[in-house]
Amino acid sequence: MSLARHVDPEDIIHHLQAHHITPKQPSSGNSGGQSAHLTPFSTPYASQREIPKYRIPQDGAPGDTVYEMLKDELDLDGRPNLNLASFVDTYLEENAQKLMVENMGKNLADNDEYPALVSLSNRCVSILAHLWGVQKGEKAVGSPTVGSSEAIHLGGLAMKRRWQARRRAEGKDTLRPNIIMGANAQVALEKFARYFEVEARILPVSKESNYCLDPRLVKENVDENTIGVFVIMGSTYTGHFEPVEEVSKVLDEVEKETGVSVPIHVDAASGGFVAPFTYAGAGGPKWNFELPRVHSINTSGHKYGLVAPGLGWIIWRDQSYLPKELIFELHYLGGTEESYTLNFSRPGAQVVVQYYNLIHLGFAGYREVMENCLANARILSKSLEATGWYTCLSDIHRPRDNNIKFNNPRQPSSSSAAVPHEDDDNDYEAETETSASYTPGLPVVAFRLSDEFQAQYPHVKQETISLLLRARQWIIPNYALPPGEASTEILRVVVRESMSFDLLDRLVTDIVQVTETLMENEEQDLGILTRQRKGPVVATDGKKGRGEGKGGEATKEKGEQRPGKADGVGEKVKGLGKEAKKRMEDGIHRSVC
Ligand SMILES: Cc1ncc(COP(=O)(O)O)c(C=O)c1O
Repeated sequence: MSLARHVDPEDIIHHLQAHHITPKQPSSGNSGGQSAHLTPFSTPYASQREIPKYRIPQDGAPGDTVYEMLKDELDLDGRPNLNLASFVDTYLEENAQKLMVENMGKNLADNDEYPALVSLSNRCVSILAHLWGVQKGEKAVGSPTVGSSEAIHLGGLAMKRRWQARRRAEGKDTLRPNIIMGANAQVALEKFARYFEVEARILPVSKESNYCLDPRLVKENVDENTIGVFVIMGSTYTGHFEPVEEVSKVLDEVEKETGVSVPIHVDAASGGFVAPFTYAGAGGPKWNFELPRVHSINTSGHKYGLVAPGLGWIIWRDQSYLPKELIFELHYLGGTEESYTLNFSRPGAQVVVQYYNLIHLGFAGYREVMENCLANARILSKSLEATGWYTCLSDIHRPRDNNIKFNNPRQPSSSSAAVPHEDDDNDYEAETETSASYTPGLPVVAFRLSDEFQAQYPHVKQETISLLLRARQWIIPNYALPPGEASTEILRVVVRESMSFDLLDRLVTDIVQVTETLMENEEQDLGILTRQRKGPVVATDGKKGRGEGKGGEATKEKGEQRPGKADGVGEKVKGLGKEAKKRMEDGIHRSVC
């Protein structure tokens, strides 16, 4: 008998089940898993039936049985605390958990019914606006969102509407809006461009630009149709802060030369809660509402805001930057409320936890958490480089002065809230090393095998290291840098609050052991595991189909083309190699998050 190329495990299980299990007779007292069970496992679900997967069952089953089954199935997930791929918070202290549970049933859309919740939300908006340098006389407005993605879309939309209004007032067309971002932009930014029909001018990144938006390219690509520039405070790839002040200066020059005024939206998904608190700050130059050109800023409460998943924030420096037509006056359940979000119903409990954190931790508490994260990220970076096997692409462990790129002075700004002053009550003790001496950025360690290592051990693949670490429960992704630098792959660790020093110690040991194992064994390349078959496709009729997972086709989506544009990439974009164009043509979102 020749060996089959593919076997369906579900078919095998069902076949064996049919042949070897005799259904219990009704007289046995078992009523089909709905009652009379002694433990959650003493029902037919334990051995005879599977939990229905694709259709609702006719009859329900006891809650504790289903709970146990689902809990067991979910044990197959990675452990959130060891998921070092994610920026999203995985730790909630007990009081925060209590507040989450107690407020779980509150819908943030029900302003009239939950006035206290709305009041907490407004206070958070105000606190964030002040943290981000809102200027005297400005009336900041903002809103909680489901995450940074929704917030970015709102910020982008406001820029688009303001640009349209200005163009119309000047008697000009509004047919070809474009927005500028670096190729390192998180998928939420590209989504904005596609969903809201704005041409994405995705500028290539380079080693010299810290794999981030290069201000010099901004000038070449901006024009009268540019609705704004997305500048990222905390690149998802390497944690570098993009140089907001430099981009702002470039746009000042453009305005002086052409009269075209282009605003900035800062995507501070992670950095919005890091830069204001750490001694390193944003690295000296201004990044927030201290710069008049920064009209709006978003952050994820559920990242370094230390809230459970489901919360973002968008703040406009003044209400005049939020076009009136984006504000809906809703008459709902007896009250009137203003809404400028994409969603209506949203969870409210996260907002409560955000406010709890802000009040409970205060400035000093957030500072301590962020400084700890940065200190641990520095230790990890230095440990990896000390092996000689790895080199870091992130820079937060490098002394500040050695790492000046562009003409960025990277000196603390006197007006930044993050910079310690002599009379600063929140100041660390003088003898404690702080982030002030180091290059600012997110607590992220992006690393790769060193050139020397690769020359000596060409059989060792980073992908295999990631997979072997996964076997030890660490989730550390390996992926290519953005177009422009895509031939380089990086492993990336996001250091969050819950990464204790002990855990870090264990992580370094495991990385070293895994690397040594691979150095000593040439035979195996586990990279094959990344190309493994996916499960069967489920048709909407509940029947199984085939075909997913072959050659990764399932991850590609057909590219949508904007009217009048062949590839969605602006003609003016210079230095974009084939890579970047292909990316947009194919509509592939090779996303990191
Ligand atoms: C820079 C950046 N922007 C936007 C996002 C999207 O944020 P969210 O997941 O809160 O929608 C992320 C997520 O990692 C990010 O890193």
